[in-house]
Amino acid sequence: MRAWRYCQHDCGHAIAAVSYAAAALGWQTRLVEATADDALAEVLGLDRREDFGAAEPEVPDALLWIGNPEALPAPERLRAALNKVHWYGYANQLSAGHESWPDIDSIHHATRKSRTREPSSLNAEPHLWSATPALDLSFARIARQRRSAMSFDGTTRITTAAFFTMLACLLVRSDTPPWNTLMSPVAVHPALLVHRVDDLEPGLYVLVRHSGALPSLKQAMRPKWLWQKTGPDYLPLYFLLPYDLRAVAKLICCHQDIAADSCFALGMLANFEIALKQPWRYRHLFWECGILGQALYLEAEASGARATGIGCFFDDEMHAMLGIKDHAWQSLYHFTVGGAMVDQRLSTFAPYEVQP
Ligand SMILES: Cc1cc2nc3c(=O)[nH]c(=O)nc-3n(C[C@H](O)[C@H](O)[C@H](O)COP(=O)(O)O)c2cc1C
Repeated sequence: MRAWRYCQHDCGHAIAAVSYAAAALGWQTRLVEATADDALAEVLGLDRREDFGAAEPEVPDALLWIGNPEALPAPERLRAALNKVHWYGYANQLSAGHESWPDIDSIHHATRKSRTREPSSLNAEPHLWSATPALDLSFARIARQRRSAMSFDGTTRITTAAFFTMLACLLVRSDTPPWNTLMSPVAVHPALLVHRVDDLEPGLYVLVRHSGALPSLKQAMRPKWLWQKTGPDYLPLYFLLPYDLRAVAKLICCHQDIAADSCFALGMLANFEIALKQPWRYRHLFWECGILGQALYLEAEASGARATGIGCFFDDEMHAMLGIKDHAWQSLYHFTVGGAMVDQRLSTFAPYEVQP
């Protein structure tokens, strides 16, 4: 189950990475949501059971359109074009034996997608945002230097300007990577455990990425939270509780020190009702979380800090801390941002140094 979940997070990171890279070349990226999994498997040649072996089938995740969004072809046209193709090659068998994980099969079947209508409008709200990054690095440099922090120093503080800029980059803006990939309404909102941000009281904050979610988020959590709007006007950031949450963050993140030693840690609260109504959207919720994570990775680098994705967390502990009792909102991914400790045992080489 955990493996399946990590693959979905990774898919979100990959979607965002493609979207940023495409934008650097002047191209738009769109997630083609309407396609059924079976149709996508057919287009990619993954439905060739005989060439893949029954024990190790491949399944498609997502179809991305890169280019002019006006020219997005209907999946039927793609399939028609591929009707006469001849597939070459056979998949290698990955392992000599096969370990059965029935839960992976069941979540795969429960979240299988059939054809749906393409969502037409993005839930972008106008944000009058003019903040500039703390450091002005080129995209290529940020993308290449990005690494996960192995540990944080527990002392670095970031400025409020850097913090607000990072959060502003998590807001949806049309035709802007990585949010240009998603046409469905925003479904994920970060709950932030702030430890070391200058001029900002340590404690619990929530970034409400779409104003429509505010009443439901408020209702899901403890009634005594403050919900005090804080930060610049353009940022829908709410202060819920002043508190030193370092020990809580560490506990929630499977006792990992980086959650306490960071400048801030966060959990991504997903509108889980969407998945309860349309089970295949369970995957999309993880993707949205992964996209948020990739944005944080790059924005942290751009501000001179570093980030680390946290797939290992105790969701029940997070929900108990927030006072979430039902399934309307669920935390699906966590993240940490801080001052990285450089591990002297690691060497760094230029990308693509070894030419074939
Ligand atoms: C979905 C996901 C979950 C992760 N979970 C953790 C985690 O719980 N703890 C941790 O220290 N690092 C975690 N990481 C960081 C990975 O260990 C790291 O991304 C991986 O080692 C590759 O290194 P890189 O990000 O520097 O390229 C996670 C990364 C991803 C993408």
